[in-house]
Amino acid sequence: MGAGMMERAEVQVARDASALANLSAESVVAMSAAAIENHGSFYVALSGGTTPRALFTAMAGDEYRNRVDWANWEVFFSDERFVPPDSPDSNYNSAREALLSHVPVSAGRVHSVLTEDISPDDAAGQYEAVIRGIVPGDVEQDARFDLILLGLGPDGHTASLFPDTEALAVQDRLVTPNYVPSANMWRITFTYPLINRAHTVAFLAEGEAKAQRVWEVLHEVGNLPASGVQPTNGRLLWLLDREAAALLGSGHEAQSE
Ligand code: 6PG
Repeated sequence: MGAGMMERAEVQVARDASALANLSAESVVAMSAAAIENHGSFYVALSGGTTPRALFTAMAGDEYRNRVDWANWEVFFSDERFVPPDSPDSNYNSAREALLSHVPVSAGRVHSVLTEDISPDDAAGQYEAVIRGIVPGDVEQDARFDLILLGLGPDGHTASLFPDTEALAVQDRLVTPNYVPSANMWRITFTYPLINRAHTVAFLAEGEAKAQRVWEVLHEVGNLPASGVQPTNGRLLWLLDREAAALLGSGHEAQSE
């Protein structure tokens, strides 16, 4: 039990949080260029929480901003808190503040979750319909994102797939509402069927506090929600700093600046 994911995952480790932001930005820039060259757009779902902010800030900065064809990005969110879009808890608001308001993405190509004057269930259904209408697939499946960014929570959750919550079992929807008792709030989240059909899924985690969970998820110990992220025929990437990778052993150092 457990070696499977460690063998499947591509683990890249940066020296520290700042180097991780650069390593991640380089990776996203490369994936964006490849996707746009291949099919004209970059279909990307941004993760929430605090970890991606350093990546967002880096990508909005002088070193990366001009290396991206932002007008061809189609931006989604791999999960959202069911709060107003201007709430400090909103993942859309965080990404808008740190990245989207600083780069020339097309306003009509930033797709946030409706969280006002709508029920969580209808919000999830509406978001799924938007995704199905915009994100192309292939012969087997529709809605194959080029990149889905994910974080890792202290309890092993990812997106808003929290332990012991109903969203973990959802197989017939791409987006689902999920009440999270530990957060005492409704969330809207990508489901495993949507996440696992992506071309690339990239976890971004940094800091000593994540090291134990990173090891457990990669070794599939404890049946944690993040261990359920195993792309069917896509790339599984883990972008870590040394602290978060501390329990994984050597052999993963990325030569990042
Ligand atoms: C959210 C995220 C969630 C997050 C993890 C890690 O909406 O909070 O989608 O899955 O990625 O909780 O959060 P931090 O980056 O803040 O540690």
